[in-house]
Amino acid sequence: MLTIALPDLEVPALGFGTYGLPHDAVEATVRHAIEVGYRHIDTAQMYRNEAAVGRGIATSGIDRDEVFVTTKVWRDHAARDDVHRTARESLDRLGVGRIDLLLLHWPADDLVPMEETLTALTEVREAGITAHIGVSNFPAPMLDRAFDVAPIVTDQVEHHPYLAVDAIRQVLAERGGFLTAYSPIAKGRVADDPVLQEIGKQHDATPAQVALAYLLQRPDTAVIPRSSDPDRIAANFAAGDVRLSDDDLRRIDGLARGQRLIDPGFAPPWDPPEQRA
Ligand SMILES: NC(=O)c1ccc[n+]([C@@H]2O[C@H](COP(=O)([O-])OP(=O)(O)OC[C@H]3O[C@@H](n4cnc5c(N)ncnc54)[C@H](OP(=O)(O)O)[C@@H]3O)[C@@H](O)[C@H]2O)c1
Repeated sequence: MLTIALPDLEVPALGFGTYGLPHDAVEATVRHAIEVGYRHIDTAQMYRNEAAVGRGIATSGIDRDEVFVTTKVWRDHAARDDVHRTARESLDRLGVGRIDLLLLHWPADDLVPMEETLTALTEVREAGITAHIGVSNFPAPMLDRAFDVAPIVTDQVEHHPYLAVDAIRQVLAERGGFLTAYSPIAKGRVADDPVLQEIGKQHDATPAQVALAYLLQRPDTAVIPRSSDPDRIAANFAAGDVRLSDDDLRRIDGLARGQRLIDPGFAPPWDPPEQRA
């Protein structure tokens, strides 16, 4: 299994996203993902599926310590007491004994100073509710400031062949964190891409597998594709076996065009669009 190794932390690089799965299918889908081989599951308070994710893990029969579980504090819960209360509630819903990684889902410094939220996350970690903490959707300068405040280990951000995040990668490399790429197959859009299709033909791989392999071959990068389809869940996991050439990687670099698929009204000012063509 592909693993990201940092001091005090090993993370399975191929994770399974759970946002948007039909609620009545979450438990069985997570169970299936674990049977296929995923050992890293991503959820959030906002997805309203933590209890079902926890049941999927429990009923899979896998040893709890074999699975890396991430959840996220919603930005409306960024005040110190709310971080503490809702982290405990997430843990109770998941029923996994300890969260592996707890993230702040979106910057919330328009509501609560970032220092207060990240210090509260650190306290939650010290209380043993989570083993590690991190952030999500932090642009590079804000991520740099976050590292000054708290022992964060990741920034979970949108990243796929159409959206490069080199400025964030640089901060993570300098500060010693890993990147978690969400929407790694651009919400399915990569399937129709002629370049990814052509590269896929050379490797007997689908465009989605090529997109995932591209991200996995970059340093310290985890991916969390989501699918509700059993065959696609397995195919996405098999992307870990695809090895792209340097020439393939360069061609995919050239697809970056600053295309952002997730941009809610409360999003922070993003880093300028990056191109590597
Ligand atoms: N931190 C954040 O703010 C944030 C934001 C967004 C997402 N996330 C996390 O990242 C996870 C993944 O992101 P995402 O769900 O936005 O996008 P994604 O994983 O890039 O794409 C999911 C979409 O692609 C389809 N798909 C899956 N496998 C495919 C394949 N092999 N070929 C073609 N289409 C395929 C899925 O449909 P089917 O289900 O029909 O297969 C679904 O519509 C989320 O579930 C969530 O855990 C985090």
